[in-house]
Amino acid sequence: MQLDVFTLIPHAFAWLTEQRPVAAVLGDELELRLLNYRDYTPLSGGQVDDEPYGGGAGMVLRVDVVAAALDAVYGGTTQHRVVALTPQGRQLTQEVVEELSQEQHLTLLSARFEGFDERVLTQLASDSISIGPYVLSGGELPAMVLVDAVARRLPGALGSEESGLVESFSAELDGGLEYPHYTRPAEFRGWPVPEVLLSGDHGKIDEWRREQSRLRAAS
Ligand SMILES: C[S@@+](CC[C@H](N)C(=O)[O-])C[C@H]1O[C@@H](n2cnc3c(N)ncnc32)[C@H](O)[C@@H]1O
Repeated sequence: MQLDVFTLIPHAFAWLTEQRPVAAVLGDELELRLLNYRDYTPLSGGQVDDEPYGGGAGMVLRVDVVAAALDAVYGGTTQHRVVALTPQGRQLTQEVVEELSQEQHLTLLSARFEGFDERVLTQLASDSISIGPYVLSGGELPAMVLVDAVARRLPGALGSEESGLVESFSAELDGGLEYPHYTRPAEFRGWPVPEVLLSGDHGKIDEWRREQSRLRAAS
């Protein structure tokens, strides 16, 4: 997958690209480009935003700046999905992550301050996605959330210590929640690990886990 993130703070992504799952698939299943709007702005002095028409607080990311960045990178035609990150978008769920992880090419647009000129959302982006009903200061964290969630669905992203197949919201668990996990010690401060997990009977363990998963979904 080719994943392009347009941002004003590309260096914010350094940590993400050094860690699994992104680090494991970079240069192989995932090509990640971090593109700075300022490198493409047609305005002087690296200007990318402006005051809102009609007045009010804050600065708005200009549509001509975002268009210039997209044109410079894609040569005037954008055939793939361009996702704008905004708290007003479609809510990110595992289903949306699965859908996006099937794309060959994906672009994420992030903003800061008051957000995008509305024409970015209506004319330049194909989708708007929110990572939750709250407002963050910029689209970098939402973009990182999406990149991480998508990257872990790519082949080779997860190590042997993690399973991407059986986890919360997976088809394997009918979209429900994962069962509880325990590790050593078997008892701590009088808090024991469920007996069945120590039994070595994998049939029973599997049955218990599925039941726990069902109980969590029901509560
Ligand atoms: C301070 S927010 C702008 C909020 C906007 N004025 C509003 O009230 O809807 C600045 C930018 O951060 C990003 N952002 C903030 N919260 C987000 C969320 N929950 N999901 C996705 N992006 C978010 C978006 O790129 C947004 O344009």
